[in-house]
Amino acid sequence: MKPTHLFITTVIAMIIAACSPKVSPPAAPDVPAKEDPIEAKVEALLRKMTLEEKIGQMNQYSGFWEATGPAPKGGNQERQYDQLRNGLVGSMLNVNGAAATREVQKIVMENSRLKIPLLIGYDVIHGYKTMFPIPLGETASWDLNLMEQTARIAATEAAAGGVHWTFAPMVDISRDARWGRIMEGAGEDTYLGSLVAAARVKGFQGSDLSANNTVAACAKHFAAYGFAESGRDYNTVDISEHTLHNIILPPFKAAADAGAATFMNSFNEIGGLPSSGSALLQRDILKKDWNFDGFVVSDWGSIGEMVGHGFAADTSDAARIAALAGSDMDMESRAYIVHLANWVKNKTVPEAYVDDAVRRILRIKFRLGLFDDPYRYCDEEREKRITLSPAFMDVARDAGRKSIVLLKNEGNLLPLKTEAKRIAVIGPLAADKDAPLGNWRAQGMANSAVSLLEGVQAAAGPNTEILYAQGAALSVGLRTFLLPTTINTSDKSGFAEALAAARKAEVVVLAIGEDCWQSGEGRSVANLELSGLQMELFNEIYRINKNVVVVLMNGRPLAIQELAGKAPAIVEAWHLGSQAGHAIADVLFGKYNPSGKLPVSFPRVTGQVPIYYNYKSTGRSYPSKPNEVTWSHHNDVPNSPLFPFGFGLSYTTFSYSDIALSAKEMTAAAPLQVSVTVTNSGKAAGTETVQLYVQDLVGSVTRPVKELKGFQKITLAPGESKKVTFTITAKDLEFYTAARKWEAERGAFKVFVGTNSAEVKEAGFVLK
Ligand code: BGC
Repeated sequence: MKPTHLFITTVIAMIIAACSPKVSPPAAPDVPAKEDPIEAKVEALLRKMTLEEKIGQMNQYSGFWEATGPAPKGGNQERQYDQLRNGLVGSMLNVNGAAATREVQKIVMENSRLKIPLLIGYDVIHGYKTMFPIPLGETASWDLNLMEQTARIAATEAAAGGVHWTFAPMVDISRDARWGRIMEGAGEDTYLGSLVAAARVKGFQGSDLSANNTVAACAKHFAAYGFAESGRDYNTVDISEHTLHNIILPPFKAAADAGAATFMNSFNEIGGLPSSGSALLQRDILKKDWNFDGFVVSDWGSIGEMVGHGFAADTSDAARIAALAGSDMDMESRAYIVHLANWVKNKTVPEAYVDDAVRRILRIKFRLGLFDDPYRYCDEEREKRITLSPAFMDVARDAGRKSIVLLKNEGNLLPLKTEAKRIAVIGPLAADKDAPLGNWRAQGMANSAVSLLEGVQAAAGPNTEILYAQGAALSVGLRTFLLPTTINTSDKSGFAEALAAARKAEVVVLAIGEDCWQSGEGRSVANLELSGLQMELFNEIYRINKNVVVVLMNGRPLAIQELAGKAPAIVEAWHLGSQAGHAIADVLFGKYNPSGKLPVSFPRVTGQVPIYYNYKSTGRSYPSKPNEVTWSHHNDVPNSPLFPFGFGLSYTTFSYSDIALSAKEMTAAAPLQVSVTVTNSGKAAGTETVQLYVQDLVGSVTRPVKELKGFQKITLAPGESKKVTFTITAKDLEFYTAARKWEAERGAFKVFVGTNSAEVKEAGFVLK
């Protein structure tokens, strides 16, 4: 560049900087703890690095184009290789497999001046090759050990495939089933979501990040991505400070406390401030208040997208804003690698900020053991030996059946009788070996799941004939991550065969719901009803044979009011992963008594969303007399959901005693014991998740009508009773108050214990 051009560019940059929104100053750069050997190594290395090499560490590329977002303009593979050779790339994503990751690592290790190993990242969301239930589904197990275990296995397989770092767990709370990415998180509840976040971080990272079977975790998307207006992906978020602190941030805090090595920021703005440009989130809350010493990666292109938001004048300006705000690594915007050095040279971005980011990135590379052996994860023999091992498949099956939620079972149609003469297995998803793998399936091989049909065939008795008919395809055309799903709305040519099968069978198992590519990133919908011809198919079958067991496979809550009014049995089976068919058959035939509970409310109709159990009561929460109009309600639909948060049936029944309290009052020094006795009042052994909720009746900011504060899973034989005791401490009653602090406010509370968020026993106490 000619000097005059450089001068003009610098002046323009300074004007832009002066006109751009103010970014609060960063937290004091991290002061390394002297006695920690890793910190000393980080400092020594940092001192050797040129500015360009430092910024190189903050630069991340995808190994192939158009993977999960548009590739930046001007990008080409040759240039990428050049930059790898010159130490100008700190991390790659979407390169995987022991051989490929070794190749790319070699480029850096054999050519770059300082030989700083690459960090290889990948979206290992619910399995790497062995696929487990989608995270929303798996959360329905309410089984934290299980979730830690499946993350552990995913890490083991991914690490054997050369991956160092997963972009998971996704800990975004979401109350809006229209949002396609609700499938990736733990649902609508902050308390449950926080426990799940910690369990998954521990699973991925194990107890030693440098072991060759652990990967660094990444809590994403920081923050509020799940609160996109109208559930439309990437859309504006405009929420209160209290919603941010009380509802959205706690799972991130839990992930940080569990030791998550990294965070990913989010595409959305919050109240006018894009997350990638938010010093409040990244520097003040995360790095300062929470003492987080790992690094923050941007989401794909999210730094550059601040131009689209109208928050940065151009990509260069975006680089300045993001670097000041504490986005440490730039995923695919090419903003840092092209522009950041100029901002440092003209003293707009102090080099100390770059040092802080690089220190964080190097720290994680050291903790992963990459400086000891950059190829320690690339072992083809190990990769072959451990991936898809039978032991992993057993866990996938167990995780699958524990994630299933029994929504309805009229007349005990389930479990199916093994001596049934003919069972018809029908529906667009009945023989599908791909949909159960779900979206975000990493290296899960297409069509590798056990289908429902295969599961039923394997589980049915020798004298049972299984009839199969698809009825109607759910979609037409190619089904992939990147293409929109085209729903079949007209081809009913398979109906006749399906009806014939239904006529002959004693019972019909009808598999409907969503294709795996109907939920996930960019897959938001405005209609939550069953798509295409599915309701019509159900209605025609139901006319002929009333014994219909509906198996729903879906990545989000669906609005199935009509279906639920008719079908005698409904089994919520999400997208359950590699062993889906066997897991569902275990439940259908009673080999496993369903125990899952919904981690998210199911609306009656789409117009009810966002719908969630921990709503605020409003000033007009119920009618004061019959036929009242002027209270908070819809005129055409009750306020309640079709199936509430925490709901799930069993093949047995549980009865709850009234609540017994250890006292009527509690203090910070004297916690409260809350007990109920739960009895298995049915005929089968079963597992119940006993749920504890509280309500703070008066707050300095209004409080939800109920908040989950504890749960216990118990297994009871028929007739058996167990006393279940919860302890409520003052800490459990804390929230982010009007004083902008986490504290418990004195006063009256209600406590509820029950089988789901709507069916509870109730008592009251006072916090003194
Ligand atoms: C998603 C992230 C993901 C990244 C890398 C983005 O589009 O929002 O969740 O980790 O791509 O694949």
